[in-house]
Amino acid sequence: MRLSVNIDHVATLRNARGGAHPCPVAMARLCLDAGADGITFHLREDRRHIRDADVRRLHAELRTRLTFEMAATPEMVAIAEGLPGLAACCFVPEKREELTTEGGLDVRRAGPFLAEAIARMAAHGTEVSLFVEPDAVQIEAAARLGAQAVELHTGRYADAAPEARPALAARLAEAARVAAGLGLAVHAGHGLSFETIGPVAAIPEISEVSIGHFLVGAALAEGFPGAVARMRGLIRAARGG
Ligand code: PXP
Repeated sequence: MRLSVNIDHVATLRNARGGAHPCPVAMARLCLDAGADGITFHLREDRRHIRDADVRRLHAELRTRLTFEMAATPEMVAIAEGLPGLAACCFVPEKREELTTEGGLDVRRAGPFLAEAIARMAAHGTEVSLFVEPDAVQIEAAARLGAQAVELHTGRYADAAPEARPALAARLAEAARVAAGLGLAVHAGHGLSFETIGPVAAIPEISEVSIGHFLVGAALAEGFPGAVARMRGLIRAARGG
């Protein structure tokens, strides 16, 4: 299972003072050295964390699996098409007023541009994933639209009280089976932590997790190398070593 570290909130911290510190590219390198398999970033319409110059530097300076998370808009697709060899992208819903991505895409009700965005990124040679709730209807719609992967939204599971989590983890496992049965690669992410990663990492169909906010917070206490290595260890243990 790959661990892709989302470095958006390194940029949040940098932007709080408007300078160059801490540097998302340098922090991404620390994560990769500590065992991360890839780096994810979300260029939001309002550029509240990652900015266009970060995207250019991440792409130019890192030799790793980069995932560009974005809203399916003409502006974002054009930026992604300007990145030769971009490994992966993930389309997410985006609302200006939200603090973070709040729900999965409603793939069935998405406008016609989503299909065009998927086709254009696939033609660019980029693996296309759609961020969806663990819901068979949405997963089937993603497959019909030509996505190669889905990222299952783990937020409801991760935010739930501990006693409510097993049922929500079972929903994620069932959704992962549905997606894999349709030939989709299965990723998962949102809100995952040291406490909640195990049951998600134990789902065999899930080949990648994307984790950001918690790891940036944990890095304040123990540094990125320690935090990433610990997350990797928990993933390994949940996969049976
Ligand atoms: N996956 C998607 C699609 C997201 O939008 C986010 C948040 O940017 C994440 C994963 C990572 O979530 P978190 O920062 O809570 O780990």
